[in-house]
Amino acid sequence: MRNPTRVCKLCVIVMLIPFLSWVESVNGIGANWGTQCSHPLPPETVVRMLLDNGIQKVKLFDADYGALRALSKSGIEVMIGIPNDMLATMGNLKAAEKWVSKNVSAHLSNSVDIRYVAVGNEPFLATYNGSFLRTTYPALVNIQRALVNAGLGGKVKVTVPQNADVYSSGSAGGPSNGDFRADIHDYIFQITKFLNDNGSPFTVNIYPFISLYIDSNFPVEYAFFDGQATPVNDGGTTYTNMFDANYDTLVWALQKNGFPNMGIIVGEIGWPSDGDRNANNEYAQRFMQGFMTHIAGGKGTPMRQAPIEAYLFSLIDEDQKSIQPGNFERHWGVFYYDGQPKYSLNLGTTTNGALIPARNVRYLQRKWCVLKDSVKMDDPSIAQSVSYACALGDCTSLGYGTSCGDLDAKMNISYAFNSYYQINNQLDEACKFPNVSTVTKDDPTTGSCRFGIMIEPYYGGADRRLGSGGFVAGLVLLLLTIL
Ligand SMILES: *[C@@H]1O[C@H](CO)[C@@H](O)[C@H](O)[C@H]1NC(C)=O
Ligand SMILES: *[C@@H]1O[C@H](CO)[C@@H](O)[C@H](O)[C@H]1NC(C)=O
Ligand SMILES: *[C@@H]1O[C@H](CO)[C@@H](O)[C@H](O)[C@H]1NC(C)=O
Ligand SMILES: *[C@@H]1O[C@H](CO)[C@@H](O)[C@H](O)[C@H]1NC(C)=O
Repeated sequence: MRNPTRVCKLCVIVMLIPFLSWVESVNGIGANWGTQCSHPLPPETVVRMLLDNGIQKVKLFDADYGALRALSKSGIEVMIGIPNDMLATMGNLKAAEKWVSKNVSAHLSNSVDIRYVAVGNEPFLATYNGSFLRTTYPALVNIQRALVNAGLGGKVKVTVPQNADVYSSGSAGGPSNGDFRADIHDYIFQITKFLNDNGSPFTVNIYPFISLYIDSNFPVEYAFFDGQATPVNDGGTTYTNMFDANYDTLVWALQKNGFPNMGIIVGEIGWPSDGDRNANNEYAQRFMQGFMTHIAGGKGTPMRQAPIEAYLFSLIDEDQKSIQPGNFERHWGVFYYDGQPKYSLNLGTTTNGALIPARNVRYLQRKWCVLKDSVKMDDPSIAQSVSYACALGDCTSLGYGTSCGDLDAKMNISYAFNSYYQINNQLDEACKFPNVSTVTKDDPTTGSCRFGIMIEPYYGGADRRLGSGGFVAGLVLLLLTIL
């Protein structure tokens, strides 16, 4: 019988040798900066926030021009993503060369410290039905060739962020049974070999929260890092948290497939704060602080005793993300939409050990849209108004176990109205739900439920937020329908 403990000691020694050069570049923590927001903070404000908080690396999901311009001369290391829907196009070398020229070379010349290109984002996720199985590898090869042709082969590395479900340890096995998932084995192997041959890392997103979300029998304590969980024994190596076990499953899978020395980047790790009964500030704080403390000493996992390179998911909440995976999707930020910290978190990078909020944030006026006091709850226009407000606003903080889950029916409706009103920049027309809404200057915030005031819209970048006119026209239409 195999003795994983002995194997492990051996492999750690073998692994550490090529790792020494890797280790130098892995100090500090990174963060994912997503921009699917109705009201993004100005990119300069975000970059200031990253610097204030000692976050030295940032991961972008596309080559967002405003973000990249703001990162110029910041000294922050950047990973730029190529969205999945561009993978097929990148199958053409000329297109890949254009992408590299416009989205990498141009920004490098402007002192943006680009280190990685992430080709696709979790392209093999089961929900994509295999749509990107055949387009990821050609895109990866072409982007690498384009980087080399542009003379950037040594400076900018390619990688493919994968969901942790591309590997597994079988139904009952521990990490030492880790291997790439059988149904996509050849695709993952091909990509991994290419990355390994080019000195590029394997990037994986690890989500204990999702394990808990999809399986109510998942042992809650095992998601955290305080050692309260019943240990899992893997042939003598014990695991008390899912992160280590998951990471080591990848280490074993890489080893089994012939890549024992390959670098690993944790592309996303985090815990949402709202939108589900297990998504709240308390759990998010416990997970994030637990993770930061866990990796702080640089001691790694049982199978790989070296510093862990990771990007927190996420920096700021994104109120326009699809909620198809769940209502928690809009609440991954360590900071709220307005750059205010949600909980105390010591990243080990600031002098006082606290998160530093965004500076000089400009809010709209202190006013809210609420349900009129006089309205009878059986008013037939209420239901239609609420569903309209929730469809175009954000009601993910309503519902069982969420931050506004305890509101009574009236306050619940007010929350929906206000969300729509704020997202539409407090336009008068956005608080004209037929006969049932009114604007107030008294903050309706109660307990854990925040009735937000939106920040000023930012028009410095693309003009993608000029769509609010369409929303308001819609509300007038709704009014006409009800009448
Ligand atoms: C650069 O990246 C942006 C954002 O992802 C994309 O829209 C654009 O098409 C890219 N440019 C080229 C030349 O591929
Ligand atoms: C995947 O397949 C399901 C069921 O056939 C379908 O509802 C869904 O839209 C598909 N998703 C994609 C991204 O093609
Ligand atoms: C509050 O609103 C949400 C979303 O519209 C709904 O699912 C929930 O049942 C409402 N709760 C109450 C108490 O009315
Ligand atoms: C709004 O209120 C007025 C006055 O109470 C009433 O006549 C009208 O029918 C109401 N409209 C709707 C859509 O409920």
